[in-house]
Formats: sequence, structure tokens, C-alpha cells
Amino acid sequence: MDNKTAGVLRHSMRSYKAKSVTSIQLPPRERRATALTEAGHNVFNLAADDVFIDLLTDSGTGAMSDDQWADVVRGDEAYAGSRSFKRFREAVADVMGFDRVVPAHQGRGAENVLFGALLDDGDVVLNNTHFDTTRAHVTNQGATAVDCPAETDLTTDSVGTFAGNFSTDRGWDAVEEHGQDAVSTVVLTITNNSAAGQPVSMANIRETAAFAAEIDATFVIDACRFAENAQFIKQRDPEYADTPLSEIAREQLRPADAITMSGKKDALANIGGFTAVRDAALFEQCKQRAILYEGFPTYGGLAGRDLEAMATGLREAVQPPYVAERIEQVATLGALLRERDIPIVTPTGGHAVYIDAAALFPDIPADQFPGQRLVCELYREGGVRTVELGSFAFPETDRPELVRLALPRRTYWREHLEHIAETAARVRDRREEYTGLKIVWEPPMEELRHFSAELEPVA
Ligand code: F0G
Repeated sequence: MDNKTAGVLRHSMRSYKAKSVTSIQLPPRERRATALTEAGHNVFNLAADDVFIDLLTDSGTGAMSDDQWADVVRGDEAYAGSRSFKRFREAVADVMGFDRVVPAHQGRGAENVLFGALLDDGDVVLNNTHFDTTRAHVTNQGATAVDCPAETDLTTDSVGTFAGNFSTDRGWDAVEEHGQDAVSTVVLTITNNSAAGQPVSMANIRETAAFAAEIDATFVIDACRFAENAQFIKQRDPEYADTPLSEIAREQLRPADAITMSGKKDALANIGGFTAVRDAALFEQCKQRAILYEGFPTYGGLAGRDLEAMATGLREAVQPPYVAERIEQVATLGALLRERDIPIVTPTGGHAVYIDAAALFPDIPADQFPGQRLVCELYREGGVRTVELGSFAFPETDRPELVRLALPRRTYWREHLEHIAETAARVRDRREEYTGLKIVWEPPMEELRHFSAELEPVA
């Protein structure tokens, strides 16, 4: 279908149809209120059956295709050298351009394998913005994680077509501060999850690679959402308007010495991950670490069937109709929210819409977690589960008070998006009623508190 035809029919025409479905239901309002109290005002503590529309994450929560399910049945469960590993390795080579791949149970397993091989005590790692597990694995190796996001104002007014970029100016500042020898690794996270899912431009990928080469650092791409990033490049960089998506996807990874990948995102699988590297010696080191932490390097903590699901999912993720529809669905949710005057980060990113809770609840101070209050009320009002990424999740930082609405891949329909937007509008209409929240219990590690802490409304 060409663009013109698609436009006439409807902008967000799906390139797939449902064959198998999962029942969901909106629990009665009273049950939602009870569930919220029982969960200590923390939606991570909710039972999924109490949730109607689950936007907690886009990680491992999407729908697999019938081809993926068929391949799951074909999975070869040999401990070493399975046929499924061969198919997986071929898919990584074809789609991402890396021949040396080590599977892992998910993205953070891959981070552990690669960073353990790459980093030494006292090293410094730069990243446009570290995702939280990435930061934790850098720190876990005795290294220091430094964010170098390009100057963009991540609030409701932010514009700019590639707002996820890496700032080499900040990179040079870090080199000056820590010394060139210390900065051993430069990572680029595409798309930039912690910066509202904003994309990184091809020019910035090249510039960051050149910067890494100049300071003799290893250049790593966190490729979790590489297909979504490629689609943004196609849409927003005129130089790539006519380049096939699959070529852009490969080209953006070409300058990298290594990648880490969560198969739960753009490999369209429910579990899995991997790291892939260019260098033979580094590959050997990664394999040895994989044996220690993940499993034999031809299965990496996964079943053969999981490797099959990733192999097929990777190929599907760079199919133009799929990824165009994916980006557009996120934009549609953003548009539905904006129509109802809900303040969101614009333009919308690749996998989620981010609401600016500080703008929505100006009377709730940051230390009373306006974002977490919004998360609670979206659930109470419409059974919609989202996640806070502001001062509750990131203590001691000055991050904006954002709430993320992450869309699982190929899972929800426009009617669900409308319900989400209507829910947000009802929450907005009742904003005078809400007070802030205070933490009444938290786990020992403050960085991980948002997963399990319990809160109560401030009287
Ligand atoms: N890197 C990025 C950019 C991520 O978004 C994630 C996971 C990981 C690494 C780790 O991958 O979960 O497979 O171990 N992000 C999920 C999220 C959890 O909700 O954004 P994983």
C-alpha cells in the first residue's frame, strides 16, 4: 500500500490482524481503590489481573506473530550448537550486521557480560543517557557512569527532531574532568529511553563514534529500540527518505564496536537479549563470561525456542509497515492526550508517551511525588497502569516529573488509546482533589526504591 492510499483509508492502518486474543477487564472502581491501597500506592505491587490497560513497559509485553510462535515449536533444545542458535546468529548478522553474538537471558544480562569484559575499576563510561540497569552494571564493575545528553529541554515545550542525541561537548568536558585514559567506553542508547524515548540522528551516531575513536574508547550502542530509531531517521532525515529501513537499521549500527540488546524490545520477543562484538578477542572474553553468568554461549540462559522467537522477531522489526505503524501509534496516543490538553513531551518518542506531571499537578511539590500521584490516579480512574520516572524513581536528581505510558508492541487498538486519553482527562478534571504522597516503607537500595516502596497520601 503506498502512502497516498494509506492516507485515504486511515493513517494508522494496521498491517496485521488478530488471531489469538487475551481477555482483559476493567475491575469495578471500588476494587481498583482497594487494590491501590493494598499495593501501597505502588503499581508495581498490583496483580496484573487488576489492571485493564497495562502501559508499565514495552519490554517483553508485546504480541508475537504466528511465524514466531511456529518457530517456538521448532526450537532446537540442544545444549550446544543448536540449530536455533544458528538461525538466531544469522538473523543478527543479516539485520544488525554483527557476526559475533553472545545470547543472554535479557538486556541486563548482556550488559553484565559485555561490561564485565570491557570495564576496569576506575573507568568512566559516557552515555547519552544511561538506562537504569546500564548505569547499575557500569557501577557494578567499579566504573563511573556519566550522562552526556544533548541540550534539549525535556518538558512540554521541547522540540527538535533528534532530541535523544549525545553531546560531544559534554563528552569533552568529561574527558577533561576524568582524564582521557579513564574514559574507556562511550555508549549511545538508541532510542534514548531515559530522555523520553527520543531518537538519535545518523549524524550524531557518526559524530559520537568519531569522538570515541579520537579518545581511543570502545564505542557501544545500546540497540534495544534500534528499529524504532531507524524509522525516525527515515522520517526526519531527508538524506535517508529513500533508503530502505533495513539498510538504515544496519547502517546506524555499523560504527559500533559492540552492541547490547534487549530482545524484549525490538526483537519482538517476550524474553531474551544479547551482546554482539566485532573484535575476536573481546568475543572470546564475552563467551567466557557468558558461561559463568548466562549459560553456554550458544544458548545464553535461554531456551532454543526463545532464540527462534528473537530470530524471527528481529526480521519482523525492520519490516516497514510494522515499524511505521508502531511509531504512529505512539504519536496517535500523544495526539489524543494533547487534544484533551494533557501536557506531554513533544514530539513523541518511539515507544512511549511521557506526561509532564509537574505541569498537570502544579500544587504538588516534587518531594511529594506528583508523578506517582498521577500514576495512582490513572489506575484508579481507568485501570491504566503506567510508571513514574521523576523524583520517586530517581531520587537526588533534578529530572523532570515524567510519567511514562509505554505501548506494548502490536497489542492495543485505537479504542484502548481513546480510553487512556479519556482516563487522563478525567484525572485532570479532578486534580483539585489530589494531595501528594509520602513514602512509608522503602527497600535498602534507594536507586531501586520505585519497584517496591510503599506510599500513603499526605494528609
Ligand atoms: N537498555 C535500555 C535502553 C532499556 O530500555 C532496557 C530495559 C535495558 C537496557 C535492559 O533490558 O529489561 O531486557 O534487561 N528497559 C525496560 C523498560 C525494562 O521498561 O524501559 P532488559
